[in-house]
Amino acid sequence: MTVTKQAFSLNFSLLSKFINEDEKNKYTNIISLIHEEMHASTSKDRDALGWIELATKQNKEEIEQILAVANEIRSQSAVLIVIGIGGSYLGAKAVQDALTPYFSKKSGETEVIYAGQNMSGAYINQLLQYVDDREVYVNVISKSGTTLEPAISFRVIKSYMEKRYGEEMKNRIILTTDPENGLLRKLASDAGYRNFEVPADVGGRFSVLTPVGLFPLAVGGIDIQALLDGAKQATNDLMFSNYKENEAYEYALSRYLLEKKGYIIEIMASFEPSLRNVFEWWKQLFGESEGKDEKGIFPVSVTYTTDLHSIGQYIQAGKRQIFETILHVRNQQEDCTIQSVENNFDQLNFLEDKTFHDINTIAKNSSILAHYDGGVPVIQVEIDKLDEYHLGYLLYFFEKACAMSAYLSGVNPFDQPGVESYKNNIFALLNKPGYETLKDELEERLSEIFD
Ligand code: PA5
Repeated sequence: MTVTKQAFSLNFSLLSKFINEDEKNKYTNIISLIHEEMHASTSKDRDALGWIELATKQNKEEIEQILAVANEIRSQSAVLIVIGIGGSYLGAKAVQDALTPYFSKKSGETEVIYAGQNMSGAYINQLLQYVDDREVYVNVISKSGTTLEPAISFRVIKSYMEKRYGEEMKNRIILTTDPENGLLRKLASDAGYRNFEVPADVGGRFSVLTPVGLFPLAVGGIDIQALLDGAKQATNDLMFSNYKENEAYEYALSRYLLEKKGYIIEIMASFEPSLRNVFEWWKQLFGESEGKDEKGIFPVSVTYTTDLHSIGQYIQAGKRQIFETILHVRNQQEDCTIQSVENNFDQLNFLEDKTFHDINTIAKNSSILAHYDGGVPVIQVEIDKLDEYHLGYLLYFFEKACAMSAYLSGVNPFDQPGVESYKNNIFALLNKPGYETLKDELEERLSEIFD
């Protein structure tokens, strides 16, 4: 079925060879029941479902505060360092990169850069050198306040800010954390840092429309109101319990049925390189929400046509366990037209007056047909253009689809017990008090492997 709307549309027509309407119809009732449960005030997961209404119940006072602090930073600072990992950074990075020119010499804009998303000593050293001759603000984002990567980066960057700015440092560090719990909340109240709240009922990977995403984006000059407006439109459009009237649910159901038939890898593909980090966000959203109890589709992403020249061969003809979701941008705000040249030295005059976007779109359609012919189920998601409004719509669409997908496979979309295993190991091996028994066990196993 193709649902066509101006802003956003999905095309499932190339799935009919792989799943049929009868198979889908069997899930009409279960999807409605999951929908009712997700939207009920008595839902068992109510404490994690706050994201559903973030855009429709906007906190105007908070948005004004975000804009006020962002404007202060934009007028006084050349750089904002955002410290966070996972859901505490991917959403802002996704939207920022999608809407920022590929190459920019513009001065006067505040540059938003990221730390705490890795533990590379070289990265943090070079970051501090990079900002050293420019005015700096810092936004540290951690809902729990205990995540190791942002915590160690914050320790180093806070010391740097103290040395550089003395007492004024306090005005230059903004915390975004849980309203009540955690070490950052304690720091905010003990030391009086300015701060924003991550709503208690919104988890990291669903938090892009809270101050976690909105504040860094506002500093980067993104129109956060338009982003919220797009998400609000999606919230209203995706309120229906029947999957035939709700594209997020039809996407979730299609993925679920494909997975049952052995298509266990979803490749998210775009022909616009600027969407690369939207896909990083999408991978976390689906991977961390669905990948548990030995279930889930493995999310990967590619940028075409670049990757057609690398793993395109595998997609066309490798092991048949992948399906592809193409994210296409219908209209380009910026384009480049091919002109004819007199001696036709490269024999490309047949492309006269075609734009790069025309050619890219033909490449998109050509790949869809080729991959389909190679046995790859293909879904197309299309947005009208790449701006705040359409991205807001898209992000919300994926959040709603993700929650439905996880519930359909019988897993809790909002926890991530698997991530704790490696974290416990790190803490034990780093001698964190309380992990002594685990430390002994891990060291013995490591010596068997490496000694
Ligand atoms: O989606 C999630 O909950 C995680 O990816 C978190 O966002 C990530 O682990 C960072 O957590 P925190 O914000 O508590 O530092």
